[in-house]
Amino acid sequence: MNISFTKLNRPKKGALVCGVVEGGKLSPTAYKVDNETNGLISTAISCSQFTGRSHQTLNVFTPSNRILLIGLGKPSQINLAFAEKSGGVIYEALANSGEEEATIMMEVDDFKSVEIAAHLALGALLRSYRFDSYKTKITKEERPSLVNLFISIEEYSYAKKVYEVEAAVAEGVFFTRDLVSEPANILFPSEFAKRVALMTSLGLKIDILEEKEMARLGMSAMLGVGQGSEHESQVVIMLWEGGDKNQKSVAFIGKGVCFDTGGISLKPSTAMEEMKFDMGGAGVVCGLMRALAKRKAKANVIGVIGLVENMPDGKAQRPGDIVRSMSGQTIEIVNTDAEGRLILADLLWYTQDQYKPEFMINIATLTGAMVVALGEETCGYFSNNDILAGELQAAANAVDEAIWRMPMGEVYNKQMDSDVADMKNAGSRWAGAITAACFLERFVNNIPWIHMDIAGVTWLRNNLPTAPKGASGFGVRALNRLVLDHCEKKV
Ligand code: BES
Ligand code: MN
Ligand code: ZN
Repeated sequence: MNISFTKLNRPKKGALVCGVVEGGKLSPTAYKVDNETNGLISTAISCSQFTGRSHQTLNVFTPSNRILLIGLGKPSQINLAFAEKSGGVIYEALANSGEEEATIMMEVDDFKSVEIAAHLALGALLRSYRFDSYKTKITKEERPSLVNLFISIEEYSYAKKVYEVEAAVAEGVFFTRDLVSEPANILFPSEFAKRVALMTSLGLKIDILEEKEMARLGMSAMLGVGQGSEHESQVVIMLWEGGDKNQKSVAFIGKGVCFDTGGISLKPSTAMEEMKFDMGGAGVVCGLMRALAKRKAKANVIGVIGLVENMPDGKAQRPGDIVRSMSGQTIEIVNTDAEGRLILADLLWYTQDQYKPEFMINIATLTGAMVVALGEETCGYFSNNDILAGELQAAANAVDEAIWRMPMGEVYNKQMDSDVADMKNAGSRWAGAITAACFLERFVNNIPWIHMDIAGVTWLRNNLPTAPKGASGFGVRALNRLVLDHCEKKV
């Protein structure tokens, strides 16, 4: 779908979208149309339940146009996140309506700022995402009819500028959704790496470590996970150097388990197909790097992803095995299904060792326990640093991605001690998301760090206003915002 910004003008063809504040009067254009049509709009409103409540919609047909009324609720509710949701609702209402064009007229007082217009457009764009490359029988009716969406606003050229930055971020979100949606027979580690490597054309520096190199570096914790797979494990390092030379780098590290069977500690077969999204953390890091490159962020950012497939096989790692991580610390594998932390252990160590970043954030679909704790709506995060935690929380709030800080501490950490090695890779049933975080912290050497457990929020079972069901891309926008606020704001 093309989105463009045009002068404040009533469209000659296609659908016309007008906002209505709750209980409020019609916008100037809607009022005009109402007059010209002997009160078609006001009659439709009075005959329906439409009151202008948030996200309510009502279609009114005049001889020349479809008019889509969209409820804006109370003016006090209107903010950027609300605008995005409204944009998504408008897209959904028109996508398969048969209309090829629609024009949103931004003329209601509380809804006519440039930022609101840009975010309305962003919401529509985010909702328009589709992953249908494997569908061979899509009918004309199933394919969205809407090809052109116009946002009609006084300051259209400025609105376009604001929107273009957001659209760059949305491209990152779409890249994440594409990667996460792919099945594991298509997107195995080397194929994943290959797709990421295509981003060199955007100015990213990309380096791929193969198993031989990983072994030379001593990454036995990560290598053990992929041992039972026919596919080679890979580490991909992405560098975006958009900041000053003397500006410190920040690092993002993603879990990329292209498929998680659990290994010898095999998962039950119910819903195992969902484990194709166990590379969601890596997907977010790649989407973030794409967004930063697309909007030419003035920051120095490192993205590191660990790509493996966790399979049971004659060569697979066994429960009881002991591995030596790159940090030198030994790990007793008590459950081969607790594999994500083994990958992150080596990558956290490698990233600090190699790049000395100002802070590190890892992002992973790490534990089922996280989903039990916060459900599929909120991402839990863990940190050793209150300032960084506050910055991430503020960034996520600003883009309306729900995150919640979880506790850590010695009482949890000691559950990861092993009788035969420095630690074991799984604790008891209780507080499983927290003990996983404590395990990771053992590989952080006194630098500010955050672990985001996105197990619940990576895959949507239902449509949201700004995302169709399926891969959500959750996290790209919050992390992009964090980079913007932390690295790019002038002092
Ligand atoms: N990838 C899973 C976690 C997961 C579960 C993500 C459900 C999304 C939805 C992870 O590798 C895993 O299997 N974790 C185990 C850890 C346990 C063995 C300590 C879990 O959560 O059961
Ligand atoms: Mn697992
Ligand atoms: Zn996993």
